Amino acid sequence: MEIVYSALKPTGKLTIGNYVGAIKNMLALTEKYDCIYTVADLHSITVNIPPAELRENTLDMFSLLIALGLDPEKCLLFLQSQVPMHSELAWILNCFTQFGEARRMTQFKDKSAKAPENVNVGLFAYPVLMAADILLYGASYVPIGKDQQQHLELARTIAERFNNRYSPTFVVPEGIYPKVGAKIASLIDPTAKMGKTDENPDGTVFLLDDKDTVMRKFKRAVTDSGSEIVYSAEKPGISNLMTIYSVFANKSIDEVENMFRGMGYADFKIAVGEVVADFLALVQREYAKIRADKAYLAEVMQKGASSASYLAQKTLSKVMRKVGFVKL
Ligand code: TYM
Repeated sequence: MEIVYSALKPTGKLTIGNYVGAIKNMLALTEKYDCIYTVADLHSITVNIPPAELRENTLDMFSLLIALGLDPEKCLLFLQSQVPMHSELAWILNCFTQFGEARRMTQFKDKSAKAPENVNVGLFAYPVLMAADILLYGASYVPIGKDQQQHLELARTIAERFNNRYSPTFVVPEGIYPKVGAKIASLIDPTAKMGKTDENPDGTVFLLDDKDTVMRKFKRAVTDSGSEIVYSAEKPGISNLMTIYSVFANKSIDEVENMFRGMGYADFKIAVGEVVADFLALVQREYAKIRADKAYLAEVMQKGASSASYLAQKTLSKVMRKVGFVKL
């Protein structure tokens, strides 16, 4: 069976952007493929994150992925830092990545501009670690949002370069993007991506937000001039809300347009808030049980890390042999 791989990094808490852009497809793909999903904790230390916060975010995220329906019986779930082959392969792949290629990554440029006091080498090499994550498991498909597309392209370039230099070793992965919602925008700045660590949390709806918070954030969402609920490039605010409604209510954009014709922005915002909050309430109930069960979480992590290590070691050994390292 072909393999699907994806990961999310616990720099902050999961958002509806993560759900719509990636997790929804991650869930759907478990029906047809062997799916491997990771909490990418190694990726989160490119920013200054207090250890207690990292630990908590990691466990929250791991539990929430299970609560959202990623059943550890049906897919392989693990923490990246518990499988050392990710870091080992990343070093090797660093030597197959050009400085100029890494420097062109827009996330690197954005993030270094935002935090000029901490432009560390890890931030620079971040997409190479991401390539290692994917290539270790021979993944054919990678469900992600639009903001990760450039990183995926780099992973493809690295894989092809290695394959051409030695012999076919890595599967060259393809990105899978949602048809609707590949880039959910911030509620307070519809031209920017909704992010986990945005300065103002009012622009981001977190999967663990309670109903009052969700309603408040949607009611205050920035909308555009005019009053009609139509999807268009000139109306990024209302289009973003329509996208969110469409995903959570399982309706097409056309259906949403028809349903809300003649209604004002204020009522529409309430409708969006409600459909999102209802969904989140169900997930949160499940989440509370899983997050409290330390023994269960430890067991899932243990099993996941051990199965992933087995698979990852096979690829890493092959790579090390091809590169010319002496085997003990
Ligand atoms: P991260 O943790 O920033 O985001 C996790 C996933 O959510 C998607 N996403 C969005 N989609 C739509 N709208 C948004 N506003 C939005 N915000 C985030 C992201 O595209 C991503 O799919 N580097 C990755 C984690 C990673 C990874 C990997 C992904 C590490 N190794 C290997 C795939 C394969 C990241 O920081 O994602």
